[in-house]
Amino acid sequence: MAIETSCDETSCAVVVGSSVLSSVVSSQVDLHKKWGGIVPEAAARAHLEALLPAIETALEGSGLSLQDMAGVAVCNRPGLVGALSVGVTAAKAIAYSRRLPLIGVHHLEGHILSVLTLSPDVPFPHVCLTVSGGHTEIVRVHGPLSYEMVGQTLDDAAGEAFDKAARLLGLGYPGGRAIQEQAALGNSKRYKLPKGLSGGTLNFSFSGLKTAILRLVESEGDRLSVPDAAACIQETIASVLAERAMKAADLLGAQALTLVGGVAANTRLRSLLSKECERAGLSFFTPDPKYCTDNAAMIGIAGSLRLACGQQDGFELDVFANAPLP
Ligand code: KG4
Ligand code: ZN
Repeated sequence: MAIETSCDETSCAVVVGSSVLSSVVSSQVDLHKKWGGIVPEAAARAHLEALLPAIETALEGSGLSLQDMAGVAVCNRPGLVGALSVGVTAAKAIAYSRRLPLIGVHHLEGHILSVLTLSPDVPFPHVCLTVSGGHTEIVRVHGPLSYEMVGQTLDDAAGEAFDKAARLLGLGYPGGRAIQEQAALGNSKRYKLPKGLSGGTLNFSFSGLKTAILRLVESEGDRLSVPDAAACIQETIASVLAERAMKAADLLGAQALTLVGGVAANTRLRSLLSKECERAGLSFFTPDPKYCTDNAAMIGIAGSLRLACGQQDGFELDVFANAPLP
């Protein structure tokens, strides 16, 4: 059984290896919408209300009971500490009462391994582009539990860039999906926007894009076409992500590329990377969008792999706002 409460989704899943028997995700989007972003204390309280019902529904969906579980995996880092504490406390209580192994999982490791929901045969090593609200990282995945960061954002994450852009365009929160919907109606060549860092780097910078959008909104005023602006923003972010990921795959001699994290749900980014990989002769894998955004199934897959290697944590397992990738 796996639990994920690091941010604004309360999730519980039951997995056997990389096969997902059930996955329940209860989103807090409606709660945070009115504040235009995530309020940490409100997130923790909402997890407290939603977690036990999510656990019950996930167990029911799997057709199994707590007695059948081999372990409890829980995301304990990085994330909002109050939100993480709710999930970790519940996981400890279940592990303690059922005498089950407890496995703390790094959120990013969950995203990286979420690709195994597609097929257990995704090849290793591969290069993984992880793009979410908190992360923009290119990781060389040597094997299921062995990771090496080769590129990352120097400021905002790609999801944060989508969310901030959406706020500036008056599209509300969360922004990624809203930008994608508007972009479908717009002209992606209308406005010129900066792509951040140039040259041979595998890192990213999205803060200049945010400033450029603010200037565009101010200078265009009522003349601004929101669909055109959204299309240009989406194209700028997707093309810089795709270009760096392809460069990393080339430099590292990778045979396969994976795309994971909330922003991996973006249809333009998915199709762009898929085409680029086809052209370069690389295999390309990206999970179903429901396993791109935060979910406990990915935490369960990582937990299962760790448990199979004999790894588990003690009841002193702590939560961390920031933590390096294992
Ligand atoms: O992985 P995730 O659910 O949570 C974090 O770990 O941060 O990612 C959430 C991020 C948000 O910034 C959201 O705007 C973005 O993923 N997102 C998208 C799309 N769906 C979600 N960004 C672009 N296009 C989408 N379709
Ligand atoms: Zn995430």
